[in-house]
Amino acid sequence: MCGIIGYTGPLSATPIVLDGLQKLEYRGYDSAGMAYMNGNGKLSLRKTVGKVKDLRAICDDDEATCGIGHTRWATHGGVSNTNAHPHKVGNIALIHNGIIENYHELVNEYDLAGDLASETDSEVVAALINKLYDGNPNTTIRKVVSLLNGSFAFCILFGDHPGIIYCVRNVSPMVATHCKDGSFIASDLTAFIDFTKRYFIIPEYTIVTVREDGIMMEDLDGKTVEPEYLEVNWDISDAQKDGYPYFMLKEIHEQPDAITRTITPRIVDGLPDFTEDGVPEDFFENVSDITVVACGTAMYAGMVGRTLLQKYLRIPVTVAIASEFRYEEPVLSENSVVIVVSQSGETIDTLEALRLAKKYTKKTLSLVNVKGSSIARESDYVMYTHAGPEIAVASTKAYTVQTSMFYLLTAKLALVQKKKTEEEVRRFIGNLEKVPDLIFDMLGSEEDIERLTKRMLNAKNAFFIGRNLDYTLSMEGALKLKEISYIHAEAYAAGELKHGTIALISEGMPVIAIASQTHVYSKMISNIREVKARGAYVILLSKDEKITDDALCDEHVKLPNIADDFTMFASIVILQMIAYYTAVGKGLNPDQPRNLAKSVTVE
Ligand code: AGP
Repeated sequence: MCGIIGYTGPLSATPIVLDGLQKLEYRGYDSAGMAYMNGNGKLSLRKTVGKVKDLRAICDDDEATCGIGHTRWATHGGVSNTNAHPHKVGNIALIHNGIIENYHELVNEYDLAGDLASETDSEVVAALINKLYDGNPNTTIRKVVSLLNGSFAFCILFGDHPGIIYCVRNVSPMVATHCKDGSFIASDLTAFIDFTKRYFIIPEYTIVTVREDGIMMEDLDGKTVEPEYLEVNWDISDAQKDGYPYFMLKEIHEQPDAITRTITPRIVDGLPDFTEDGVPEDFFENVSDITVVACGTAMYAGMVGRTLLQKYLRIPVTVAIASEFRYEEPVLSENSVVIVVSQSGETIDTLEALRLAKKYTKKTLSLVNVKGSSIARESDYVMYTHAGPEIAVASTKAYTVQTSMFYLLTAKLALVQKKKTEEEVRRFIGNLEKVPDLIFDMLGSEEDIERLTKRMLNAKNAFFIGRNLDYTLSMEGALKLKEISYIHAEAYAAGELKHGTIALISEGMPVIAIASQTHVYSKMISNIREVKARGAYVILLSKDEKITDDALCDEHVKLPNIADDFTMFASIVILQMIAYYTAVGKGLNPDQPRNLAKSVTVE
C-alpha cells in the first residue's frame, strides 16, 4: 500500500528516487510524485496520475541532492494529481503510507480546512505539521504524532532544514541505511539494494533524522535509539526480471530453487529439524489444537496445511481469515498453537491477529518471507521462508514455500507426538525432497498451458473444482485467475456443485478440475461428467496417462505419479500458469493488476 523512498547525499537525488520508486511500484501504481530540495532550501514538487515512467517523463532533468518519492495506492480520495503525494502545505512537503483514522476530527479541531487542496487523510497531517511548526522539526513531529490515530510511515521535508529528511512510522513499514553513497529510507529495501545490502528497520514511534553524513534516531522522550543493522542474503539480480517478460513468470520458474532453499536446511538426516530456527522441542509437544491465521494466498497455503495437519495429527486445525479472526472471540488456550503466515510480514490484519493470539497463548509461530518484518519480530517463534524477493502482486513462489513449510511442520509434529513412526516420517520427507524436481518437470508444459488458455480469453466466469487437498488448491487457483485476468472465478468442493452452483454452468464456461486424490477420484470423475454434460469447457488435471473420453474433458494435463499428498505442488504450478497465460493472452500486465497492491498495510 504505497511505496515511499527518500535519499540525501552526494549523488543526484532525482534518478535515485525515480529508480527506487520503480522498484517499489508493486506497492501501488495509480499515481506517483516526488519532492526535492537543493541547497537553497527551495522545495519543488512533481506529481502525476499514472506510473513511475510518467513521473520520470516530467522530472528526469531536475537537479537535487535530497528528495522524497511516493507511488500511491489510493485509499482516501480518488486517483488525481491533487490527491497524489507529496502534499505541500506552507514550506513543508510530506509523503505517507498508511491511513490516518481521525483526520476529520483533526481538520475540525485545528481548523485546517482552508489549508487543504486534496481529499486525502495524508494532506491533513502536512497541514497539521505546518500549523504546529515551532521551528524544530523533531518537537513538532513528536507533538503531531501524539495526535494521530492510525497507521503511518511519513517522510517529511522542511524547507528551512535543507538536505534533511525527517521520518516517523507506526505499523507501516520503513527501513533505512547509511552507506558511502549517502542516506536512504524506504518502504522496503529493494528500493536501495543497488547501493548496499545492509539496512535497519525503523522502530515504531522513533523520529528519524536522515542527513547526508548519517542517520540519527530518537524516541518520543528524546532518547537516542541505535540502529540494528541487518544484511540480506539476496542481491539486486534477484529483484530484476532476468530476461522474463514479467516478474510473475520469473517467480513461477524460481519455485524449485525457492523450495530447496527453504526445506534443505531444515532436514537433518532425513528428518525435520528446526534447531536453526530456535524453536524448542517442547513447542511441538502438548499441542491441543492449531489455528492458522493469514490473508489471501497465505491463508490458502494454510488450507493445505490444515488438510495435512489434521490428517496426520488427528487434532482440530482451523484456518482463520485474519481480518475476521480479529473481531471474533477466538477459542484458544495455552496449549493452542497459532501459526501466522505472511510473505511480507507486514499485512496489518495478520499482524493484529497475531497480537490478539498472543493474549491467549505463548505458542505463536510465524512463517514469514521478509527478514525482520513486524510479524517476524512480534511472534514467539519465526521460521523464515527463503523465496527471495517476490515482486509480482500475484503470489506464486511465496505460496509454495509456505506450503512446503507446512509439510515440514506436519512431519515434525507427527514425529514428536508419535502419530507416525520415524520410518514413515523419513518416507514423507523423502517425497518432499523430490518436489523441486517435480515442479521443474511441470514447468516443461508451459507451451501446452498457453495453448489451452486460448479458449478462456473471452470467458466471463470460471470454476475451479476439486475434493480434499485438491479443493484447497482450487481456492488458490481461482484467486490467481481473478486477480490478474479479471475473470470471475470461484472454487467449489466438487461434491457441493449439485447443491446450487451447477446452475451457473453454461456453454463453454471454463471448469478447471483437479482429480489427484485417489480416495475420492471416482466421485470426482462423476462430478466432472456432470459439468461437462452441461456444456463446460473442462480442463482436467489428473494422474491418468491419457484421457480419450470426450464426454469427460476437453483438455487433459497429466500429473506425475507420486503420493497423493504431494501432487498439489505439480497442480498449483499448472494453475499459476493458467492464470498467467490467460492474463497475458488478454493483453494485461500480470505484475500490476488493477486495484491491487502487493503489501496490504491498511485494514
Ligand atoms: C495473492 O496473490 C495476493 N497478493 C494476496 O492475497 C496476498 O497473499 C495477501 O495479501 C497476503 O499477503 P502477505 O502474505 O504478505 O501477508
